[in-house]
Amino acid sequence: MVRSQIDDDYETKHVNILDEYLPECMVLLRKNGDFPLNGEKSIALYGNGVRKTIKGGTGSGEVNSRYFETIEEAFTKEGYEILTKKYLDNYDKEYEKALKKFKNHILVEILKNPITGIMNSIGAIMNEPEYKINIDSTGDVAIYVLSRVSGEGSDRTFVKGDFLLTDTEKNIILSLARGYKKFMLVLNTGGPVDLSGLEEVENILVLSQLGVNTSKALVDVISGKKYPSGKLTTTWTKSSDYPTIGNFGDSSDTNYKEGIYVGYRYFDTANMEVMFPFGYGLGYTDFNYNVQSVNLVNDEVTVQASVQNIGNFKGKEILELYLSKPNTELDEPYQVLVGFEKSKELAPSETDSITLNFKLSDFTSYYARNATYILDKGDYIVRLGNSSRNTEPCAIINIESRIVVKQVHNKLDEPGFEDVKIDSNLVHPGEGEEDLTNSNLPRFTLDPNCIEKETITYDKVFEIPEEVKQLSKEDKAHLVIGAFNPSGGLASVIGSASTTVAGAAGETATVAGLSPVIMADGPAGLRLASDYYTDRDGNHSTQGSIPISMQQMLPGVIQWVFSLFNPKPPKNAEIKHQYTTAIPIGTAIAQTWNKEFAEICGDIVGTEMGIFNVHLWLAPALNIHRNVLCGRNYEYYSEDPFISGIFAAAVTNGVQKHKNAYVTIKHFAANNQEYNRYGSSSNVSERALREIYLKGFEYCLKRSQPKAVMTSYNLINGVHTSESKELTLDILRNEFDFDGIVMTDWIVASMFTGQVAKYANPSATGVVKATGDIYMPGSKDDYNNILDNLKNKKLSMEELELSASRIYKLAKEVHNNN
Ligand code: BGC
Repeated sequence: MVRSQIDDDYETKHVNILDEYLPECMVLLRKNGDFPLNGEKSIALYGNGVRKTIKGGTGSGEVNSRYFETIEEAFTKEGYEILTKKYLDNYDKEYEKALKKFKNHILVEILKNPITGIMNSIGAIMNEPEYKINIDSTGDVAIYVLSRVSGEGSDRTFVKGDFLLTDTEKNIILSLARGYKKFMLVLNTGGPVDLSGLEEVENILVLSQLGVNTSKALVDVISGKKYPSGKLTTTWTKSSDYPTIGNFGDSSDTNYKEGIYVGYRYFDTANMEVMFPFGYGLGYTDFNYNVQSVNLVNDEVTVQASVQNIGNFKGKEILELYLSKPNTELDEPYQVLVGFEKSKELAPSETDSITLNFKLSDFTSYYARNATYILDKGDYIVRLGNSSRNTEPCAIINIESRIVVKQVHNKLDEPGFEDVKIDSNLVHPGEGEEDLTNSNLPRFTLDPNCIEKETITYDKVFEIPEEVKQLSKEDKAHLVIGAFNPSGGLASVIGSASTTVAGAAGETATVAGLSPVIMADGPAGLRLASDYYTDRDGNHSTQGSIPISMQQMLPGVIQWVFSLFNPKPPKNAEIKHQYTTAIPIGTAIAQTWNKEFAEICGDIVGTEMGIFNVHLWLAPALNIHRNVLCGRNYEYYSEDPFISGIFAAAVTNGVQKHKNAYVTIKHFAANNQEYNRYGSSSNVSERALREIYLKGFEYCLKRSQPKAVMTSYNLINGVHTSESKELTLDILRNEFDFDGIVMTDWIVASMFTGQVAKYANPSATGVVKATGDIYMPGSKDDYNNILDNLKNKKLSMEELELSASRIYKLAKEVHNNN
């Protein structure tokens, strides 16, 4: 079969599979019954997302598909007449004017301070400009598509044109809502925007960024061919509602003083009204649900509930289970998510029965005073609902005295402050008195003996195979450093250092007769170069190492300077192509609350890894949406660690079904801001780390066996995560029982030493001493660093061999398996 034939087969197949599910990622925030349309075929399209539709964020998470159509094109293709061509043409002109100004500004900054200027320019994103264009309100139906993009290298801001709407956007949206018979505001964003002031808008849909068929999926939902059925996995509210207890975006030290009160854990506990709560989303229809039974077997709670479609359109409902723990010595959030299930598609009047379950021992609290995971004594209230602001108690479980489920050691040092405490003894809306003593709820008493208790001993033993011991010290050093081009260059700025597969982020060294292990990015699909050529040294992207959407924001002269460092195709070189499927961004996958879909996404990526010979996918990414401004939140799933862990595990299982296709879960851990990301310390209490920031990784590792873990750029409490033996050996390998590869994130910081630098960069030796296995993307200096420290005895041969042997085994495994 010729290559293009293979391409067509897998691409079409993957797009068709995704199409079935994309509407499940969308969240309907408001509805008045005007949508879906009733056969109308003339439509007025407004907003920056109509022609500049965004399929995903920028940076290493960007994926190069064969094609991408805009929302305007998708409506046209489906036979709609677009009434607003004049407005759209005028908008294009305004946008180009603003972009020119923006690029000039970047250039001036670079001329003022070249290093900082260049660093800040990579990932810089233009805010939506203000403009004056006449709106002639033609037709009966209008859609305003508001888009925002963000990504690697810069955070979002609470300013107009980014998190806030511009005055122009607000005015147009309000006038459309007033002037049109039917109006829908569509949000083509990777995360929240501030929707305050738009109370008159009665139809709002979070389209999100759904990869290759974002636009077609919108047309399907507007026309009524399909229906939205997602719910938010992060709280959407006005900018002034988000707490400022801890800071965000500090260049050196970000203090997570809010402790465990992240996202809904904060809003629900403080009983603060929010615009669109965690877990919230509507459908084209409505549902009723009722608890049928609750049971406790050992420490496993099972809730059986019925769901009925009580509207006139088909749909799917998601039920969510929360747990309120007793406040004892530890203050506890009002509730935490412990389970969820999505119904099958329900026709009007149809009923489904849903089973939700969870184990209490999976939801312990961390008591730092004596380093124990505990279930404290008292009443545990189980709540069922369809958003975090709409839950009702359905059972009470009593624990008579404190159960120590796991004994560990504190490992992560002190952040230098006490976490905030929030009074959670509040009355919640719709629930009346929270005192349930005399309620008729089913009550259970937990038998403490049914919980398996564990004491961690930190004594896991790792074998070094004889054949690794026999290797030369140079070969061993090469194994723990990513394969590098001795001549250097900018090939790995944003992860495209592989010369075996063009555009793949990196690979392991070809020493000792080993073939390379190829690593390529995600999470929104498999990131490869779509155009490449081959020469004596291998395969090279013709598109440079900076993702295309990021290049577009750079001044022409800077693009030219960067291009000087890129490998050049020889004259008459054949330009070849590799196309992969852009899947929805991480947040959108989680918004489906459909684990099966997450596994399907993994399956698609795993298949394409097989086609292009990639072994390690650098995804899924499961950092917590600690702050809505983090530029890379779009890659991550949620503000909640349980959802994050469940979705990362489902994606992992989908990928790893395929022979020789493995995942790398990242970024371990507390990687929650982009500003000065190489050198900022996330200062976090041991409790918040263990209950929030490490928890998703732990849940993922319980439900799947990811082959690799990538450490983060940031430090935790003043120690680089990649150099923390406590994090890598004690917690990841011993406590979480992880047996795979630990790699660093792509450390290219030494190129930019002019950055704010309170903390020194991590070194290859530091990483290996912490039991990290490979320092990526690697350079000659890093390789020398290992050999020098071996010589001066700062690194022992055994330390080096331990890491080298894990890479050696992986390289053997992926190539022998063929
Ligand atoms: C990103 C990682 C990515 C790596 C390789 C880094 O800049 O933080 O998420 O996997 O590059 O591209």
